[in-house]
Amino acid sequence: MSQHTLFVCTSCSFAAGQREYLGQRGGYHLWQRLLKCQQQGQLPPTVRVQPVECLSACNRFCTIAIASPEKTTLMFGDLPALESATAIAQLATQYAASSDGVIPRRDRPTLLQKGILARIPPVRSSARGAISKREATPTPSPQP
Ligand code: FES
Repeated sequence: MSQHTLFVCTSCSFAAGQREYLGQRGGYHLWQRLLKCQQQGQLPPTVRVQPVECLSACNRFCTIAIASPEKTTLMFGDLPALESATAIAQLATQYAASSDGVIPRRDRPTLLQKGILARIPPVRSSARGAISKREATPTPSPQP
């Protein structure tokens, strides 16, 4: 059974011009809400929620990423701290059920149909073979 990690930046601002709400960063509130989702069984048991200090997308608060060794890593931003946890839990459920981690935009929860910041392919293991010559050859630029 694959293990999945849902990274949550706990340092993200709450809103533009407002770093904190009730004494905590927006990302902290999002993390707490995701832990509550986990306690309520809204996240698959194969998904672990991991707080991180920063995902280097600080101007796109709040930010999360989901990763698994054999799957594409997805990263999202522009997530409202108090309203995103349920949508993220739905995405994490889709991600855990997928074979490759690629969740088409139309299938993602509405809140996550925008704001994707990165889609990083899985690391190839040597058992799967080296990168092919075709993959390694850069695509030529179109001529003006
Ligand atoms: S503070 Fe959240 S991504 Fe940097």
